[in-house]
Amino acid sequence: MSEILTALKERRSVRVFTDEPVSPEDLKTIFEIASYAPTARNSQAWWATVVQGLDNIAKLNEEVKKANQKPGYERYRELTKTASYSINFHRAPVFIIVGVDREKSFCPSEDGALVIGYILLAAHDLGLGACWINQLGVISDEPDFRAYLTQLGFPPSHKIIGCVALGRRQSLPKVPDRVKDHFNVVG
Ligand SMILES: Cc1cc2nc3c(=O)[nH]c(=O)nc-3n(C[C@H](O)[C@H](O)[C@H](O)COP(=O)(O)O)c2cc1C
Repeated sequence: MSEILTALKERRSVRVFTDEPVSPEDLKTIFEIASYAPTARNSQAWWATVVQGLDNIAKLNEEVKKANQKPGYERYRELTKTASYSINFHRAPVFIIVGVDREKSFCPSEDGALVIGYILLAAHDLGLGACWINQLGVISDEPDFRAYLTQLGFPPSHKIIGCVALGRRQSLPKVPDRVKDHFNVVG
């Protein structure tokens, strides 16, 4: 099996990290690889804001918790109001927010999901660990949270598709059982 097919099988969602930061070179490689992700009609209309360091991620977490208590944003209200809740309960040293321009992209969710997939695979290949973190999409447009995102440099035109917790992995988790027989062939 080729190296790329082996990597596709070996990548796992990593949720335990060492304290080491991720180097600027590794971040550069990850986003170079992500820039090759396919996008509908080749819009390439995505953006990633990288929040580094536990203190900065803790501040982001506070903003997330506040936004989830606002009227109209009830999906994770109960979950996020507990003192122990954190978007970064895995204590990753890097938290990446991935968004797609809703005007310029023809398929924002699909484009963003593929970009995140490329980020996860590039991280794996670099010996890092990464995990998709989902909860920020629903508060993407809560006005105070949006103002905070803008301060971070995340473009106002972009909807959050998902986030990635990133760091140096301690080990690779066991492969969850695979569901088989996902396809049929005609002809
Ligand atoms: C759309 C999506 C949302 C996810 N959200 C989360 C999340 O919020 N927190 C988390 O720990 N893992 C999350 N994951 C990771 C999945 O739990 C993981 O991919 C799945 O359990 C299979 O494990 P594997 O990635 O190691 O194959 C998400 C994955 C996807 C594709």
